[in-house]
Amino acid sequence: MLAGKRVLLIISGGIAAYKCPDLVRRLRERGAAVRCVLTQSGAEFVSPLALGAVSEDKVYQDLFSLTDEHEMGHINLSRQADVLLVAPATANTLAKMVHGAADDLATTVLLATDKPVVVAPAMNVRMWEHAATQANIAVLKDRGVTVIGPEEGDMACGEYGMGRMSEPLEIAEALTSFFHDGARLSGRRALVTSGPTYEAIDPVRYIANRSSGKQGHAIADALRRLGSETTLVTGPTRLPDPPGVNVVHVESARQMLAACEAALPADIAVCAAAVADWRVATEAGEKIKKTPGGEPPPLKMTENPDILHTLSNAGNARPGLVVGFAAETENVIENAVAKLARKGCDWIVANDVSPETGTFAGDANTVHLVTADGVEDWPELTKKAVGARLAARIADALDAAHD
Ligand code: CTP
Repeated sequence: MLAGKRVLLIISGGIAAYKCPDLVRRLRERGAAVRCVLTQSGAEFVSPLALGAVSEDKVYQDLFSLTDEHEMGHINLSRQADVLLVAPATANTLAKMVHGAADDLATTVLLATDKPVVVAPAMNVRMWEHAATQANIAVLKDRGVTVIGPEEGDMACGEYGMGRMSEPLEIAEALTSFFHDGARLSGRRALVTSGPTYEAIDPVRYIANRSSGKQGHAIADALRRLGSETTLVTGPTRLPDPPGVNVVHVESARQMLAACEAALPADIAVCAAAVADWRVATEAGEKIKKTPGGEPPPLKMTENPDILHTLSNAGNARPGLVVGFAAETENVIENAVAKLARKGCDWIVANDVSPETGTFAGDANTVHLVTADGVEDWPELTKKAVGARLAARIADALDAAHD
């Protein structure tokens, strides 16, 4: 149900806007309060009068109308909503959202908001399939925007294909599960490690590894989406900080451990970082100079702290559910099962990182979830999908422990 939720429905100019009065009804019968913002082109397809009647509220249209600004500035429109739903979201509106354009009330509210944003795209099939639109959708998803649909079907333009706005009932259902899912881990604290570590040799050189951080960042993002208060402790990566996550940037394994310990207590810990097992025993204070023809410097190594092992064996401070990763290049399952016992964690996500799998730099991952109950083989998924599935499994496990 959507009881007590305040939906700010932003209607942009597509033919599907004619379905919006029905959408408002569907949302309201689930208990939501709906307030509409109508763009100028949206008003060509649906009347403010109809929207005002079904929402039983004023319909907001004009950025520069003195009464609108006086009664309800664009900031307040966002402040007084729990979610912004853009339906229909035209190709043009999506493009404006990507670039942060703010040339009318709808786009200004979308730029000024810190609330979750859900979009239901609607457009001609070729516009939907255009590389520009697909790239825009990818950027918005990356920023945490939830996308509902579009669906395949007959279109108002007489063509058939992908691009039809999802039916009002489906949008209302999707919004209901958005709020349900978004609260599954509320009140829980999650800690995630991600990326490589850099172990200094001297002030300019370091030893590192090929981890991109994509998997760990995706897990932190997915846990946050389920409502947990999430801390991501990450080594150096090229990735943006996931929105809504408390991100701590570190370089070395020892810094990563200290940041993890500072983030305790936690209900959930997921160690996805590729932590360097060893560091150079004595970091040179000055850049090591080359003597032409001379011996290369010997690098004496010493073992780094094992963060997963430390968290798994932290006594009272141990997170309720500790999940490790096993990056293997051979005997993936056997090594992962042994690692589960050795580290003392609850689950291991095992993956094959042999160079031919492309796992390290790529976007896809084929993993096996090893728990006390056995081994689950997951299909090849994107790293984001692995993150979402793992977060949902964690929520299931915590629910079951609670029952
Ligand atoms: N890990 C850690 N701290 C370390 C080394 C590893 O927290 N110093 C964690 C990783 O984040 C991962 C798990 O331990 O969750 C396993 O990492 P992996 O590199 O596969 O295993 P290692 O323990 O390093 O063992 P090996 O390299 O021998 O396979």
